[in-house]
Amino acid sequence: MAPIKNVVLVFAMEAEAKPLIEHLGLKQDEPRAIPAPAPCVTYSGAFNGETVRVVWTGRDAEHGVDLVGTVPAALATYLALSAWPDTDLVISAGTAGGFKAKGAAIGDVFVSTTKMHHDRRIPLPGFDKFGLGFVPSAPTPRMQAALGLKPGVVTSGDSLDYTDRCMAIMLEHGAAVKEMEAGSIAWAAGLHGKPVLCIKAITDIVDGDRATHEEFLENLHSAAAALQGMLPRVLEFVNGKTLEQL
Ligand code: ADE
Repeated sequence: MAPIKNVVLVFAMEAEAKPLIEHLGLKQDEPRAIPAPAPCVTYSGAFNGETVRVVWTGRDAEHGVDLVGTVPAALATYLALSAWPDTDLVISAGTAGGFKAKGAAIGDVFVSTTKMHHDRRIPLPGFDKFGLGFVPSAPTPRMQAALGLKPGVVTSGDSLDYTDRCMAIMLEHGAAVKEMEAGSIAWAAGLHGKPVLCIKAITDIVDGDRATHEEFLENLHSAAAALQGMLPRVLEFVNGKTLEQL
């Protein structure tokens, strides 16, 4: 594997992306790297000799909110990697729910060991595994030790809450982190043959007793700050290393 020099970070929420964009002084791409009508917004710059590109899924024209969820994330990832074929590593970055049974606490930052979906239930031969959509992440033992990242299975679904069946699937597969994009980012990146790591800061406890939306809103800004504290360190750590060296 070639050393990592060109990194794309995919974000679903502007509040998650903005602190990194400002910290690294990234500039919005003009002319657009991903042309209209795609809603994605991209930013580029350099950090320690590394090329850093950010794609934010954008804002929904009708409702004025961030384009969260698996569909905009797949679109943004596919188009970003078409625009930037020299990408060495994709990072799915953002906030997420965490399982306290897997050691998660508010403000922790996790790195993926694998990505999957918990809300694609298709009980037909072959389609069942497709629905779960496992995409392993490269092992990152040195990065975890150096940066204090917690490792875990990251699972995606298109809802902030979950059904009983979703919870059963998450528990069965040892999920530590629940969010809304990683599985589809991994799928779209896979079409381009690119590896994906998730870096996720915890806003709420999935297996706790608080209402998710309340806990999420309460902790979004502190978790975004934890994410911002970690992402430059991740970029610095991966710079010039091969995937095998992480
Ligand atoms: N983002 C932050 N917390 C989440 C949760 N519990 N589920 C899905 N996405 C999230």
